[in-house]
Amino acid sequence: MNNTVIKKDAIGDPLSRVDGRLKVTGGAKYSGEYKVAGLTYAVLVPATITSGTIIAVDTKAAEWAPGVLAVITPFNASKVPGYQADAAKPIKGLKLFNDNKVYFNGQPIAMVVADTFERATYAASLVKATYEKQPFETNFHRNLDKGVVPQNGNYKDYVRGEVNAYKNAPVQIEQEYTLPSEMHNPMELHVTTAFWDGDDKVTLYTKSQGVKGSQRAIATAFNLDPTNVQINSHFVGGAFGSSLRTWPHEVAAVQAAKMVKRPVKLTLTREQMFTLVGYRPQTIQKIGLGATADGKLVGITHESHSQTAVYEEFTENSVNVSRFLYNSPNANTLYKVIPLNVGVPAPMRGPGEATGSFALESALDELSYKLNLDPIELRLRNYADIDLERNLPWSSKYLKECYQQGADAIGWNQRATQPGTNRDGEWLVGYGIGCGAFGAYRSLTQAKIKLLPNGTVNIQSATSDIGPGTATAMVLIAADTLGLPADKITFELGNSAFPVAPTQGGSATVSSVGSAVHDACVALKQKLYVLAGKSENSTDEIDYANILQQHNLPSLELTQESKSGADGQKYSMYSFSAHFAQVYVHPLTGVVKIKKVVAVVDAGKIVNHKTASSQMIGGAVGGIGMAMTEEAVFDDRYGRYINGNFADYHVPVNADIPQIQAIFIDKADTIINPVGTKGIGEISLIGVAAALANAVYNATGKRVRELPITPDKLI
Ligand code: MOS
Repeated sequence: MNNTVIKKDAIGDPLSRVDGRLKVTGGAKYSGEYKVAGLTYAVLVPATITSGTIIAVDTKAAEWAPGVLAVITPFNASKVPGYQADAAKPIKGLKLFNDNKVYFNGQPIAMVVADTFERATYAASLVKATYEKQPFETNFHRNLDKGVVPQNGNYKDYVRGEVNAYKNAPVQIEQEYTLPSEMHNPMELHVTTAFWDGDDKVTLYTKSQGVKGSQRAIATAFNLDPTNVQINSHFVGGAFGSSLRTWPHEVAAVQAAKMVKRPVKLTLTREQMFTLVGYRPQTIQKIGLGATADGKLVGITHESHSQTAVYEEFTENSVNVSRFLYNSPNANTLYKVIPLNVGVPAPMRGPGEATGSFALESALDELSYKLNLDPIELRLRNYADIDLERNLPWSSKYLKECYQQGADAIGWNQRATQPGTNRDGEWLVGYGIGCGAFGAYRSLTQAKIKLLPNGTVNIQSATSDIGPGTATAMVLIAADTLGLPADKITFELGNSAFPVAPTQGGSATVSSVGSAVHDACVALKQKLYVLAGKSENSTDEIDYANILQQHNLPSLELTQESKSGADGQKYSMYSFSAHFAQVYVHPLTGVVKIKKVVAVVDAGKIVNHKTASSQMIGGAVGGIGMAMTEEAVFDDRYGRYINGNFADYHVPVNADIPQIQAIFIDKADTIINPVGTKGIGEISLIGVAAALANAVYNATGKRVRELPITPDKLI
């Protein structure tokens, strides 16, 4: 075997997923698929009221049902130590079975544990609660006046220059844009399998975007040393933000395992996933834009109202994009949340940035027609050469190149400047653009690297993979840095015992974990050069395996930590996107056929063109769902969703999806990290909904400001 260093330039290669075979053959094990000896099954019983107090829970019939081991209610649950009011670090969120309060319909009020899933499900149907009902509010639009400025987190209203300067400009737009709540709906249900070893050690197989975060949360809830909490999340079947945090049902599974002294598996139903694991909150946004007659922005005002839960505040960055994306001397933003008797929202792919960019990019499109200016030309006239919000230069920005390449790929020169005038047979044809930005984040990460005598390298880090191909990207970075073929390298993740890594979220994994992998490979190489008697920064070719043999070493191992340098404070760092859509709209039926979507992204260096393209396509599909089909519908009489299932909540299917082309500018940004990446997970969705709404307007002359764009809104 020849392990000689080869200059290989692996970064950018279209490497197929290293775990692809496992995934398509059923070899990949998800959290619900681990066989644990003596496993029992927990099923949650949802509240049937929307606000009030549980007076009593009649558990007799359930307890007598076959196979039942326990029926857990607020009246008999063993205490979760971290839930107590006087605990030093009370854990975040709803505390199930801790008291008798009900805050929303569907909140679990009891949990049945039985020897099979079917028996637990049947027994759960026999549990009957008596309540004292209280008045509740679930209607977002009727409660807009109850909005409060977020109290937690770091949200602050923002003013640059004058407030509402748009009102004094010669050309103005003032419009409202409405989004319904949207559900993450990953294919894999949320599942937790938990088992204790004595009273102070617990192991979980759980759907998690961050095994270290889950470890901290469970350790806090049960007052354990974090090293006594083992979290495994080797494969995750999609999450989109729904597994960024540890949810109450995960704590409940651990609590149940403690009470029945057996391993417990708790699987949420699809319907429970509409209430217990977050969603993109419904939002109403007002945009004011003012411009000079030649299309220079004078002012941008962006106001957003969004729903949250009465028991926990959720906030996101819906208005922030309006502060920096365009070169307006005046900008101001306001944001309020409205607490309702609903489950708490969560970040959902592209989170607030996707919500905010739908409003801003729709309004900009409206302004372009008022000015009689091409929408791309309007964006060029207001191109931000620096970040005016922070008054910092960009670490890199190639949005102009995105406009150009996207316009060429979609055929922008075929776009009619007058809406409703471009026909192909019976169909109206339209083109639209929508843009976005998402912060290029990076967090402290460690990677452990081990060189074995056969010349193979194993790397471990406690990151997760919710589907983008994390291990594959890490293998390419290591192959490139070490100069080894990719098939000599393995990367392991999803285990809380591995060295620290951030939660997979905010498009930061390749930047954070990739940097640690890169730095660990550099450190390993340096050690090998020194062992070979060369300068540690030598570029000579050396044979790694030979060096181990010569020094009689069974292996060579090290752990490397990596984080941003001080330069991080001197630049504003974002990924940028320009999404383009071509649509056909039938004037009689209002049916929209999406013909083509082009997503152009400046996300720094692209590590793997194959998986990155897949990720961009997946994000565009999410954006198509947001624009065209997805809407969680509430019945405010009962405080319940009426479409909490896949039949009535419409996610796009293959027949809805056109040709989607991903284009990468692919220029390294080494200010952010040594590999030069900026992140694509969120930006792949941010701007898509506006591109589609703007294309529909261009085709029909009908401006839809309330998503989704269903046919009834076009006839
Ligand atoms: Mo993403 S919404 O940070 O999982």
